[in-house]
Amino acid sequence: MASNLERVINFLDEAETYYLATVEGNQPRVRPFGTAIVYNDRLYIQTGKVKPVSQQLAKNPNAEICAFNKGQWIRIAGELINDDTREVKTLMLEKMPMLRNMYNEDDGNMQMLYFKSATVTFASFTSAPEIFNI
Ligand SMILES: Cc1cc2nc3c(=O)[nH]c(=O)nc-3n(C[C@H](O)[C@H](O)[C@H](O)COP(=O)(O)O)c2cc1C
Repeated sequence: MASNLERVINFLDEAETYYLATVEGNQPRVRPFGTAIVYNDRLYIQTGKVKPVSQQLAKNPNAEICAFNKGQWIRIAGELINDDTREVKTLMLEKMPMLRNMYNEDDGNMQMLYFKSATVTFASFTSAPEIFNI
């Protein structure tokens, strides 16, 4: 039986696209994302430090992602924390080699963020929501 974290990453990988919501003042911001990797038992996503999404998270780390696939959806709500560990950047670039067209470990732009104290909800129209922390 896969761990809860494995179920989360498998779901995101199969969905391919998820939507990341951040907060800017009192305005929610949302956009499509696709990067996700598990490292040291944490769920990481990737972005560029030059993007508004990164600047929003630096001011307010509260974030939520949502993805839908095959009748089921997931929501992950928590804080997204910057991690400049080189190894996790390399692993992300190896998992999604297309990213190398835009980023590398030492460009000062590539950013890895992990979910701290996140609540995961798996939901569908046919069964009760399942809620756990990662
Ligand atoms: C399918 C899809 C997946 C994407 N995945 C990512 C991603 O993982 N990380 C990222 O920084 N941008 C990704 N993007 C691009 C962002 O959605 C885009 O740069 C967006 O404008 C960032 O939000 P912001 O403008 O609020 O900073 C993706 C776009 C698409 C269409």
